[in-house]
Amino acid sequence: MAEDKLLLRALKREKLPVPPIWIMRQAGRYLPEYRAIREKAGDFISLCLTSELAAEVTLQPIQRYGFDAAILFADILLVPYALGSNLCFVTGEGPKLSTITTDSDFNKLGKSDDIHDMLDPVYNTLRILRSELPEKITLIGFAGAPWTVATYMIAGKGTPDQKPAHSLMVHNKPLFDKLMKRLTKATISYLKMQVSAGAECIKIFDSWAGSLRGNEFEKYAIEPCRRIVTELKQAYPHIPVIGFPRNAGLNYVNFASKAGVDCIAVDNAVDSDWAARNLQVYGCVQGNLAPDHLVTGGQALIDETRRIKKAFSHGSHIFNLGHGITPDADPKNVQVMIDTIRENV
Ligand code: CP3
Repeated sequence: MAEDKLLLRALKREKLPVPPIWIMRQAGRYLPEYRAIREKAGDFISLCLTSELAAEVTLQPIQRYGFDAAILFADILLVPYALGSNLCFVTGEGPKLSTITTDSDFNKLGKSDDIHDMLDPVYNTLRILRSELPEKITLIGFAGAPWTVATYMIAGKGTPDQKPAHSLMVHNKPLFDKLMKRLTKATISYLKMQVSAGAECIKIFDSWAGSLRGNEFEKYAIEPCRRIVTELKQAYPHIPVIGFPRNAGLNYVNFASKAGVDCIAVDNAVDSDWAARNLQVYGCVQGNLAPDHLVTGGQALIDETRRIKKAFSHGSHIFNLGHGITPDADPKNVQVMIDTIRENV
């Protein structure tokens, strides 16, 4: 039952003695059991789109650690893939996609409602997970925010600063705006389908929000997210939404007060005491342990985990990292982190 699910309780702003725990990229290369399935699947996109395997890897960290939430195994770039981008993941290099720099590139994309045939395996993964997950575990669905997804589509790859997208925004605003609009509509449609397939909470990843300057943050981070949240909640009034405008700095307050999310996820550059004072008034806060602690471990991991738990203990908090766990993390350190959070200190 929903009332028993710690994560959903925290999202309703309940202050809990022990925060619910999950970690970004919890199903990933740091786990030997993930690497085994990844090898069996061949390429990463096939793994995302083979529902039985995607469900299996989603469940792996739940079985190993007993996290309070499972996040659908998929990727934010499946939306451009379903819109017709030629996507592949090159080991060691990250994603590669066809670029969008002209109207003719844009015109080759599919319409926002035409994505569902290709994404049907994702909805099927969610259905499998809802039937297999233990009762107390919350199932999280997700999508990339339009700006972050647009940065990859415009550049055709990840870059250190996503300059090509910034450049298109300035030099061909009509094209940039058309792309943002298409992505916003597609994301709304995608997330509605995820909720109808069983997602109990949605997270919106805006990993490149911090690179938006001045008024751009309002226009391209807050505004699309608010639209997505509003339309999703019109269809599903009780669905909680977590927003993650990574590296937003002081703009986290702006985002938390305007985007309409139930929870704001913070990166590890944010000071926990500052976040507790300035963000918990708007709802639940998630984060912000530096992923490196799961590589280095030791007393520093224990001290930092306790410090973050304490900093957020006066409001509702979901324990998580400030960004995804890295492939070189030691799986034993994840257990140390969990034991530290769940001990009675
Ligand atoms: O958190 C989870 O466990 C759920 C699954 C998930 C993945 N990617 C799986 C994945 C989620 C929520 C994402 C989000 C995602 N994907 C983001 C936003 C969060 C962030 O990290 O900033 C972004 C920007 C992407 C795009 C993406 N996917 C990149 C840049 C890369 C390559 C870098 C890398 O870590 O390899 C991916 C690949 C990817 N997505 C992997 C996983 C487990 C590794 C693929 C592999 O197994 O080879």
